Amino acid sequence: MRGKFIVIEGLDGSGKSSIAKDLTKLISEKTGAACLYEREPYDEDPAGKVIRASLAKEISVEPETMAFLNVASRIEHIHHLKPILDGGTSVVCDRYYLSNMAYNQTDALSMEAIYDLNRVCLNMLKPDLVLFLNVSIEESRKRRAKDASRAQAELYETDAIQLQVRNRFGQILAFLQDKETIVTIDASKDYASVLETVWATVQNIL
Ligand SMILES: Nc1ncnc2c1ncn2[C@@H]1O[C@H](COP(=O)(O)OP(=O)(O)OP(=O)(O)O)[C@@H](O)[C@H]1O
Ligand SMILES: [Mg+2]
Repeated sequence: MRGKFIVIEGLDGSGKSSIAKDLTKLISEKTGAACLYEREPYDEDPAGKVIRASLAKEISVEPETMAFLNVASRIEHIHHLKPILDGGTSVVCDRYYLSNMAYNQTDALSMEAIYDLNRVCLNMLKPDLVLFLNVSIEESRKRRAKDASRAQAELYETDAIQLQVRNRFGQILAFLQDKETIVTIDASKDYASVLETVWATVQNIL
């Protein structure tokens, strides 16, 4: 049987990486089936390396270029993931194309346009489930501030951008309502409660 492809989305500092890694462990432990943690931007490919450098503010590329680089990197990532999923291993992916839609919009590139760019990705790999970790920008800022592993703020980590991204996620969830299985998780709760809700939700599709 093909493995499940589960996507975790949310603001910077909403808890995605922590939850995605713990969910990966829970799936392997409780079901005995293999499960792998993956994240985007993928960084094993040339486009992904440019994205990472740009996020770290080492280089600068235009926002529209970032949108296309994200699609290119995702195509490489999907080619890496498909054989893994086909072999029966499930994958929990920390961000997927919804982040592309939320972060890379410009006056010249609408949410719908970025969705259309991602059709190539969706034709190859559609999520079985998307979990959106919902927190306020205040809470995500607090979590980022206490996270010692963050040496420097990445490109999008200002309050103004986070507010814009949060609003865009609201529009994206409405836009994708009849296209994807998306569950919004109240991620403002304590960590154990959030993980418990996530696990209860994921069990429905395993
Ligand atoms: N429910 C929670 N309550 C309190 N703190 C939390 C909760 N979830 C995660 N955290 C903490 O918040 C910080 C950020 O979490 P994490 O790195 O998982 O977020 P993220 O969404 O992956 O961020 P980014 O998008 O920047 O990669 C970490 O220190 C983590 O331990
Ligand atoms: Mg993370």
